[in-house]
Amino acid sequence: MTKKLVVFGLGQRGNIYALFAKTYPEKFSLVAIIENDPDRIEYAKTTYPGARLFADYRDFLKENIDADIVAVATQDADHREHAIAMMQAGYDLLLEKPIANNKEDCLAIYEASKQYDKKVVVCHVLRYTPFYSTVKRYIDSGKLGEVITIHASENVGYYHQAHSFVRGPWHNKAQSSPMILAKCCHDMDILRYLMGEECLSVNSYGGLYYFNKEHAPEGATQYCSDCPHKDCIYKAQKLYTSDVSRGFSSYFTTKDLTDENILTDLKGSPYDKCVFMNDNDVVDHEVTVMQFANGKTACHTMTAFSREIYRDLKVHGTKAELVGVIEDSAFEVRYFGGEVEKVRIDVSEANVGGHCGGDYFMMNSLYKALNGEPAEGITYLDVSIESHLMSFAAEESRLNNGKTERIEK
Ligand SMILES: NC(=O)c1ccc[n+]([C@@H]2O[C@H](COP(=O)([O-])OP(=O)(O)OC[C@H]3O[C@@H](n4cnc5c(N)ncnc54)[C@H](O)[C@@H]3O)[C@@H](O)[C@H]2O)c1
Repeated sequence: MTKKLVVFGLGQRGNIYALFAKTYPEKFSLVAIIENDPDRIEYAKTTYPGARLFADYRDFLKENIDADIVAVATQDADHREHAIAMMQAGYDLLLEKPIANNKEDCLAIYEASKQYDKKVVVCHVLRYTPFYSTVKRYIDSGKLGEVITIHASENVGYYHQAHSFVRGPWHNKAQSSPMILAKCCHDMDILRYLMGEECLSVNSYGGLYYFNKEHAPEGATQYCSDCPHKDCIYKAQKLYTSDVSRGFSSYFTTKDLTDENILTDLKGSPYDKCVFMNDNDVVDHEVTVMQFANGKTACHTMTAFSREIYRDLKVHGTKAELVGVIEDSAFEVRYFGGEVEKVRIDVSEANVGGHCGGDYFMMNSLYKALNGEPAEGITYLDVSIESHLMSFAAEESRLNNGKTERIEK
């Protein structure tokens, strides 16, 4: 049965959910969009003409529109207000991660979901990827024996770090979230999910080493458009017209992504700023060590310093180790004293969104869950909050030079 969807915040993420509904009208019908940016409102009018449009969510609430789910995809700092207002009005939520950018707001959303008896699915998209769901099935089958320790890395990519965490929405902790939450709450969630044990404590180390004034080349200027260092690998004009970062240009232009449109709208924008002379303060490297129940452990490394964006994973069981990279859509299971099994994963079905199929399969799981069918990966706030508590504890630990932080629920 078709489910009625409302998208609150038609930005990068909200647009994926709207697009999914447009592509699969038999699954979701996009009944309304709440968006307050004039350019995005124009985009909504032309792209989703069937949806009712509201610039202010209070006007939306006055209309009592019938909907099965509201996708809250505004920025981190607004989640508390927006999520609670929607739940209070009676809507279940698909809530973008992070739940909120501080512990108090996360817990307020959690309490509100209990108070209003509303379901909240947090967009931990990695859970739904064919890669991690296949890994989880291997673990649950017992093929690896008992999982004792996991090592995972999140290689953010030098150009992605520059875009999102030096120039973009998540560059400043006070205005958005710490990296371990903004980027790595996915990884905390996956580690908890794969380990199948409660995380008891964390230690974390890291900082902002490179993207600061000390590393600015001699004579660099505040904006790349004026800078004499034409060969700088972070030169905005070069990055945003390259294959790897062109798509990110939609953060500063709603026009077609031609070189000419990009270069015009980039000039003087926050994305034209020198990566060494900004007010960014989020880390560019961080290592987090986790202790789980029964003495099991995990280690997670986040680094800005990689040529490509990729996540790698090593799961060490008592009978075998599993080694893979999600972006390769493949992993190996190395059985002790036995063969090496090579597993290939097919993600060709995923034709909307990104995250190695995570966005697409999450929307499919959501559709099934809303219809009362078994839905792989689907979890609600009571589970998602654990990864956030791990992230908050890790940030506290990092700020205290790796002091052990216990996870308190
Ligand atoms: N699940 C994931 O893997 C993933 C990936 C990236 C971002 N995110 C999260 O998704 C959320 C959105 O990120 P994004 O990259 O789409 O950001 P974005 O800035 O592109 O989108 C936010 C949209 O909300 C609109 N908006 C803001 N305040 C509003 C209001 N009061 N009323 C109506 N509209 C309003 C903005 O105009 C914008 O269009 C963030 O919380 C972010 O951390 C999740």
